Amino acid sequence: MNPWKAQKQPFIILAPMAGYTESPFRRLIREIEPSTILVSELVSAEALRRNNEKTLRMIDFTPEEKNYYGVQLFGSEESAFIEAAKMVEDIGADFIDLNLGCPSPKVINSGHGSALLKDIDATQKMIKKLVQSTRLPVTVKMRLGFYDDDDIITNAQKLEAAGISALAIHGRTTKQKFTGKASWEKIYAVKEHLSIPVIGNGDITSAQIAKDRLKNLDGVMIGRASLRNPWIFRQVRALFEGKPVPQKPSLSEQLDFFQRHAELATAFKNEKWAMIELRKHFAHFLRGFHGASHFRSQLIRVSSIKEMQSIFDEIKATV
Ligand SMILES: Cc1cc2nc3c(=O)[nH]c(=O)nc-3n(C[C@H](O)[C@H](O)[C@H](O)COP(=O)(O)O)c2cc1C
Repeated sequence: MNPWKAQKQPFIILAPMAGYTESPFRRLIREIEPSTILVSELVSAEALRRNNEKTLRMIDFTPEEKNYYGVQLFGSEESAFIEAAKMVEDIGADFIDLNLGCPSPKVINSGHGSALLKDIDATQKMIKKLVQSTRLPVTVKMRLGFYDDDDIITNAQKLEAAGISALAIHGRTTKQKFTGKASWEKIYAVKEHLSIPVIGNGDITSAQIAKDRLKNLDGVMIGRASLRNPWIFRQVRALFEGKPVPQKPSLSEQLDFFQRHAELATAFKNEKWAMIELRKHFAHFLRGFHGASHFRSQLIRVSSIKEMQSIFDEIKATV
């Protein structure tokens, strides 16, 4: 049986986001909504097989992330994917996700990420070998196409024939990068032609939008909105289950979330790293209250938990 089918449905997935969806953030999301499926940020298969220390650290996860946690690999070499997959298997992750979506020039100029969409037959052959070589389910996250979305259905069918277990589609082409609106119609059309789970991704900013977009799909993947509202996953699950949508927590509870993030990140590496991590998150968060931009500009410079706490105290006293 396809192991994805044992997960709670419709699937709700935290989209991989380089520099954001590291282990501490993933754990927090899992705490907020236990049914959220987690994926690492993109990780170079080549760097992994070379035992690059920093890359090895990037795939690390805690037991709380298990069931269901996948490592996203990017690359183009079949042998690198196969060796990296073995390493992912050895650390006990639940699935391997392949990146066929990254539009970054550095990645596509090396023939990685969404550049793999340019020669789908070669990509299909490579993925087939990978699927045969690992006992973990292999999934793909792709764009609608590289230049245009004309071949999305046949491309998706070829990936399914290669043996992947699920397919997530970001409703934009590589050329579009992050411009314009994600187009979901093509994702619905793909689902009509595939029997594996198909997950839609792009521009979901609320539980209602997630519900409206789901249609015939098996799940939704949410990225940027979760940086502003990590509680979106709980809200989406509630709405999928026909329950009232829980409100976003109070400002004070939001600050507690950061406190916990700082603690988890410090335990995962150290305080210095934790603060560098959190600064990125502060830039997206803490909006919509009096003085928010002033506090945000202070928080994106903090270098210790103590400093962060004293700004939090100030916010609590002001708001
Ligand atoms: C900062 C950032 C980093 C991202 N890193 C990755 C990545 O490592 N792997 C990947 O497949 N997609 C990556 N993406 C794309 C997201 O997973 C997602 O497809 C995209 O943001 C659209 O979904 P959204 O509108 O819900 O954010 C990244 C996006 C952002 C904004």
